[in-house]
Amino acid sequence: MKQITVTTLATMKRKGEKIAVLTCYDASFTTVLEEAGVEVLLVGDSLGMVIQGQDSTLPVTVDEMVYHASCVARVRQQALLMVDMPFLSYATVDLAVATATRLIQQGGAQMVKLEGGAQQLETVRILSQNGVAVCAHLGLQPQSVHKLGGYHVQGRDDKQASRMLREARELQSAGAQLLVLECVPAILAAEITCSLEIPVIGIGAGGECDGQVLVLHDILGLTSGHVPKFVKNFMQQGGAIQDAVGAYVSAVKGGSFPAAEHCFI
Ligand code: KIV
Repeated sequence: MKQITVTTLATMKRKGEKIAVLTCYDASFTTVLEEAGVEVLLVGDSLGMVIQGQDSTLPVTVDEMVYHASCVARVRQQALLMVDMPFLSYATVDLAVATATRLIQQGGAQMVKLEGGAQQLETVRILSQNGVAVCAHLGLQPQSVHKLGGYHVQGRDDKQASRMLREARELQSAGAQLLVLECVPAILAAEITCSLEIPVIGIGAGGECDGQVLVLHDILGLTSGHVPKFVKNFMQQGGAIQDAVGAYVSAVKGGSFPAAEHCFI
């Protein structure tokens, strides 16, 4: 069985093959997602909301991330296992090194993801120099929800847009090997995707990104309350969970997801 690695993802970008990413928090779904062809399993801190019933990602702890990551790692066969560094667990470089160590050694993470731009450059550099695969996360950063004043599209004005482009380049230079862009106008996400060598994975960032990520529970229609514009419920066409995940992977790879209605201008 061929392992998906950062090299696989970089090659997919070069060949123009779309990358399918989904969040995953347990062993049962790991098997379903891998059988459907998902390349990257993200143990996201969104588990705070969809698993724990919290109203944000902020209460999620490193212990909890380690627990869920290890549930996925135990049965994972070939997909790349990426794990979120939770809120304030990478506020200093030393803390980031300690958190990444736990996520990798106890959780089985193969890549860690952290939110932020310029303020994270040194952390990304140190982790990368020490052999850690890092995914950066720009645009809407849910861990900063209270500072941002809500979950809003980022990068709509020229100043914000050029800062995001600059930070994306700097994160790549610091050693990030993947970038998630969340809730960004499609045109800006396309520009960032073109100007980077590393793959860019979008969520509410248009169809020109190198791949897409969604929260698993959202594509299965399990989310109650407000459903973001960029979400598509793949259970609506009927069938089993396996069919819905397969339909998501096919739609990402075929370019039919995201459609215009899932994108921001
Ligand atoms: O925590 C998460 O699930 C995420 C994705 C939404 C990108 O960070």
